[in-house]
Amino acid sequence: MPSPVSPFLWQEAARPIVALAPMAGVTDAAFRQLVKRLAPETVVYTELLSTDAIHYGAKKTMGMLHFDAERERPFIVQVFGKKPECFLSAAKVIEQMGADGIDINMGCPAAKVVSSCHGSALIKNPELAAELVHAAKRTVSIPVSVKTRLGWDTPETLIPFCATLVEAGADALAIHGRTYSQKFDGRADWAPIYELKKRVSVPVIGNGDVCTPQDAAQKLGNLDGVMVGRATWGNPWLMRDICDALLRGNIPAKLTVDSLSFPEKIPVILEHCELSVRLKGEQRGMMEMRKHLASYVRGLEGARELRAKLVRVEKLSEVRMILKDWM
Ligand SMILES: Cc1cc2nc3c(=O)[nH]c(=O)nc-3n(C[C@H](O)[C@H](O)[C@H](O)COP(=O)(O)O)c2cc1C
Repeated sequence: MPSPVSPFLWQEAARPIVALAPMAGVTDAAFRQLVKRLAPETVVYTELLSTDAIHYGAKKTMGMLHFDAERERPFIVQVFGKKPECFLSAAKVIEQMGADGIDINMGCPAAKVVSSCHGSALIKNPELAAELVHAAKRTVSIPVSVKTRLGWDTPETLIPFCATLVEAGADALAIHGRTYSQKFDGRADWAPIYELKKRVSVPVIGNGDVCTPQDAAQKLGNLDGVMVGRATWGNPWLMRDICDALLRGNIPAKLTVDSLSFPEKIPVILEHCELSVRLKGEQRGMMEMRKHLASYVRGLEGARELRAKLVRVEKLSEVRMILKDWM
């Protein structure tokens, strides 16, 4: 895979940075490429990938590293791992395949990730967290960033924890405004993220509960960018709305997803399916599209039967047939 023409640097990326949040089971190459077509300025991340799996060349994980080098830039690979030999060899693989950056996950609250001392568990182990950043920085020349949460059970540790990461070489930070203990409960609190930005020299991206361009504009504050996750489900147009708002000052009165009729959405839904099938083959591609298809018809009146059919599809031709009745 060719290297990027001019290396991506977080410090020099156009402001504000608009990022699609890494989401396991969601932000695969098909979804990222769809979002990039609709909103080319978006920074995209892979789902979190195990450095052990990359080190051992596990087929499924290696497939998840696949990206479109022409259209998917900046392309950041998010990893979790802690065995130094695996971590370092995975970092080299990621750099050699032409990724623009490596992001280390220090925020995942999933029990199996935390119990193996990955994800959010690193918040409680700043020495290991810093060691991982330092090791990656020594190994690759592409930027190394970290995505984490406010803290384990209090935001009080956010600034010292992040200062340690920056000292170890972290080039950027993305912060989800909840603690590990909160998981996904309550509202994301961005106030500690604004405080963090005042105290560190690297770009800081805020994350949590951005659902509209208005949210993005209101929450941006003194930060370098915003990262958007769940609100993009069934709404890849949201990233374009947010880019329009933040990069061009054009805040739409109505979300694109709400101004499009269902028939007008169908070409994009089919494009998503086609990308998924092209990248994963028909069987897996369509199986993984089912949850997206359910999201695309969420809230659509009279769609109970449609939804029931879409969550059982096995072939692209079936989706085309089902949606034909709605065009
Ligand atoms: C289904 C799902 C999968 C996720 N997977 C990841 C992941 O692989 N890596 C990561 O750093 N965060 C992951 N997250 C967290 C999101 O990146 C983001 O921090 C969180 O959803 C809050 O942002 P939002 O309110 O915009 O959704 C995931 C969240 C969800 C709901």
